Order: sequence, then structure tokens, then C-alpha cells
Amino acid sequence: MQIFSSPGSLKAYISKERNQGKTVGLVPTMGALHSGHIELIGKCVESNDITICSIYVNPTQFNDRQDLIRYPRDQDHDIFQLEAAGCQATFCPSDEVMYSTKPMVSLNFGPLENLMEGHHRPGHFKGVALIVAKLLNMTQPDQAYFGEKDWQQLIIIKQLVQDLNFPVRIVGVPIVREPDGLAMSSRNQRLSSDERIMAPELYNCLQLVTQQLVESTNLDQAITKGKEYLLQFPGIKLDYLEIVRASTLDHLVDEIGSEPLSVCIAAFLGEVRLIDNMQIFID
Ligand code: PAF
Repeated sequence: MQIFSSPGSLKAYISKERNQGKTVGLVPTMGALHSGHIELIGKCVESNDITICSIYVNPTQFNDRQDLIRYPRDQDHDIFQLEAAGCQATFCPSDEVMYSTKPMVSLNFGPLENLMEGHHRPGHFKGVALIVAKLLNMTQPDQAYFGEKDWQQLIIIKQLVQDLNFPVRIVGVPIVREPDGLAMSSRNQRLSSDERIMAPELYNCLQLVTQQLVESTNLDQAITKGKEYLLQFPGIKLDYLEIVRASTLDHLVDEIGSEPLSVCIAAFLGEVRLIDNMQIFID
């Protein structure tokens, strides 16, 4: 596997491969790779001749400096896993490379970013969209892969690509879970053993809410049941539990129609903030 830190050498490598008629897939990550990331790499390897994984902890998407400092990093292990997964190239740029000048542009996603993660982490999606746009421009992939755990991020990236006509297909990959239901996340490493035992309760809460929606389409009741369930666990501090239209993130007003919904949750366990979601289609 080739490792690049400069966009120039990465571009030369990609041009050479493209000239031989090869297709290129990109998996953007912030490193500290786990099985969820390896699933993204696997999907990319399946459908592209060349798989490039970027590893970059992007400072502009962290609204909390401590969260940025504490974000797990383990580049040697990441590279080992990427090689084993069949990735051909890794792009590991520095802050100086990615932000050689202070960016002036600000990407705004209106209603898509004013709720859930965007509301609780102001500026987060501006930072995500900026870095994803930079990475897409630097690599010009045919397809780029993102995990569905960050559902709101996936919708915003699809909007970015549509609005700015990036010639790339965005592929969402289903959440990979631990056997007890906890969604894989780099942040799981930071949980204490007690927090780790409690963490699958977010998944249990999502299951309860979706089950409730199947039984009765009363949205408020489903959310209330979910919140009541979590109250049993004082170690979990809920940030939000919301039901939105899966493709537009709109809140539903009254009744549920025949459309995919997304139940989204974010909560703190100690200092670690976890997110998760579950898709549901009610006919
Ligand atoms: O989902 C992530 O890991 C990050 O938000 C991304 C898409 C790599 C941008 O930094």
C-alpha cells in the first residue's frame, strides 16, 4: 500500500492509475479505524479498481477543543488494517497541507444543519462539508463511501455533491454493530468499562422507539417511551432523540405516511458523546 502526505504526489499516483483505465474509490476517515471503517473499505474494494483511504482528524469540524485533543489516533494500526483490507493507497495529510491558508468559504445547509448534530455541535457540518469538498477535489473519485451511523452527515454530503455538481457517486454503508448492538465508533475506545456496559442502551432505546412506531404511529408517544427507558440509566445523558424523514431530515408534523423514517439519538456517557440511528419504513 502506498502512503501519501502531499496532494501533489497523490494526484500523480491517481492520474497514472486513471490513465490505465482504472476506477477510483475514496473512503474518507479520521483514523482510529474499526470494523465499521473496514466494512467501508471492503465495499469500496469490491466496486473500484483503486481504493484510497484518507486519514485526517479535521479540526474545523470539532466545536469542542477537548474533543479534538482527545480524539483517538493510531496511524500504525490503521495502516496495518488498511493493508489487510486490500486498500491500495492512504492519504495522511497534515493540518498545514489541508489548511495552508485560512478558509474564507462557508458552506451552509440551512434546515439540514439546524437540527440534531448541527444544533448540538454548531459549525460541525460546515467543517465536515469543507473537508469532504477538499478531499473530493484532491482525489476526484468515481465513488466515495460514508457510514450510515452519521446519517445526518450522509444526507448533507449528498446535498453538497448535488448542489456543487461533484462528479462522484456517494455510497452509504449500513451501520456495523458490536454483538450487543453498540454501533461501532472510534469514540467507543474512550468509554470506561462501566460506560461500555451501558452503551448498548442507546441501541436498545432505538429498538424500543421503532417497535413503538410499528405498534402505534404516535410519534410523541414513541419518543416519550424512549426517553423514559433511558431514565433508568443515570449514567446516560441524552442530547436528543428525534424521529425525522430519512431523506430530508424534516420533522413529521402529524401522522406518518408511507416513507422511510430515521430515529436518531445522541447521548453522553461520561465525557464520551455517542450517536446512533435506526431506519424504519412504516407502510
Ligand atoms: O465521518 C467522519 O469520519 C468524518 O466526519 C469525515 C467524513 C471523514 C470528515 O472528516
